[in-house]
Amino acid sequence: MNKHTHIFQGTAFTSKSAKEVHILKDYLFCVNASGMIEQVVSPEDADYQTLLDAYQDKENFHRLADGQYFLPGFIDLHVHAPQWAQSGTALDIPLYDWLNTYTFPLESKFSDLDFAQQVYQDVVSTLLANGTTTALYFATVHKEASILLAEICANQGQRGLVGKVVMDHLENNPEYYRDLDTQTALVDTEDFIIAVKELAKSTKQGVYPVVTPRFIPSCTDASLQGLGELAAKYDTYVQSHCSESDWAHGYVQDRFNKNDAFALNDFGLLRDKSVMAHCNFINDDDADLFARTGTAVCHCPVSNAYFANSVIPIAHLQAKNVEIGLGSDISGGFSPSLFDNIRQAVISSRMLEDGVNPALPAEDRGVPNSRITINEAFYLATAGGGESLSLPIGRLETNYVWDVQIIDTTVATAKLPIYQADENLHDVFQKILYLARPENIREVWVQGKKVHSRTV
Ligand code: GUN
Ligand code: FE
Repeated sequence: MNKHTHIFQGTAFTSKSAKEVHILKDYLFCVNASGMIEQVVSPEDADYQTLLDAYQDKENFHRLADGQYFLPGFIDLHVHAPQWAQSGTALDIPLYDWLNTYTFPLESKFSDLDFAQQVYQDVVSTLLANGTTTALYFATVHKEASILLAEICANQGQRGLVGKVVMDHLENNPEYYRDLDTQTALVDTEDFIIAVKELAKSTKQGVYPVVTPRFIPSCTDASLQGLGELAAKYDTYVQSHCSESDWAHGYVQDRFNKNDAFALNDFGLLRDKSVMAHCNFINDDDADLFARTGTAVCHCPVSNAYFANSVIPIAHLQAKNVEIGLGSDISGGFSPSLFDNIRQAVISSRMLEDGVNPALPAEDRGVPNSRITINEAFYLATAGGGESLSLPIGRLETNYVWDVQIIDTTVATAKLPIYQADENLHDVFQKILYLARPENIREVWVQGKKVHSRTV
């Protein structure tokens, strides 16, 4: 009897709901040849001992050591892969200046495939080492380099969803960095979609093409229209920046006399497979439109603190049934770690909460019921991301994919403060989320395959 490809034994944390974490103490996780979780077995189940007897001495049986735990792999819904080369710089200037003085000059260099190769190899392996098993990437306007990013994800075993960025507006983009014209932007996007769909066939974990108008100011009406049609024709994901800064939001108001959400919807760009980054300035009508179309919001708490001086009302959007996940927004956000973004999501939500600043008059003190808990922020980085992408990822449950990070709380260089053998497991979970560093991430698995490990 050797039905299962792998069996893992250990304690896991996974979201039960947006607010609750399920603690699976000493469970068995049976993974099949496709990398799916076939069976989740509690120590009370009759099968438990039978499975242990059959597998525990085999090579495909993996028992966690004391102090180690399973977490679902993280899902980063917004990464600018080329911007990894400038992470941590230039965060003191407004978005518009940052784009023109730093970001566009950097991204224009990705016409050079050697340069692209270096940065893209590094960003994919860095994200894996930080526990990110699925990433939704913006590449650049360059078709070849964008395909290269998808190939690197495929080779490193990460589930990469990759977009060739479209910037065809002749006045709003610099001459040195834009698509040649609308027609070329659309042909390149279609070629890119076909190439990535072909590439996906040779991967276990999947890589996906994403239709990617950078944001409305970068695009003409004709390209937005054409991209909506391509998304429908090939049933692809769509990503963009939506109502991010007051400047970008105001520009769209001037051009279309409506908010980004309704303008994007007019072009067929809000679909079940759409993820809109930031959304700082969306109103209740926009949120209802997102809920109706199945469009997800990507919350980028670190980036929003810098470029938008803003905290989005997560709790309010969830109450309106909008799907929400978490994004690093490298390099608008400086950190490649969703642990850091989980922490910032909680901190920012507390700053939005009513009564935070007693120096202000009562009516200016904040928004009641805004705070989110660490459980909810964890949900955004895992199950919420999976729901946003409509993929069976982000939970450690039957019929979900085996995408996990193995957290070691005992690593000498990054030991977590756990001293009591019988410490409450929800406390252990919180310590992991608040204190874990890449050193604590021993192994990362995607679709049942080990893709990262470290010994120190
Ligand atoms: N809006 C348009 N382009 C960008 C970008 O690269 N980063 C962020 N944060 N916002 C944008
Ligand atoms: Fe962004």
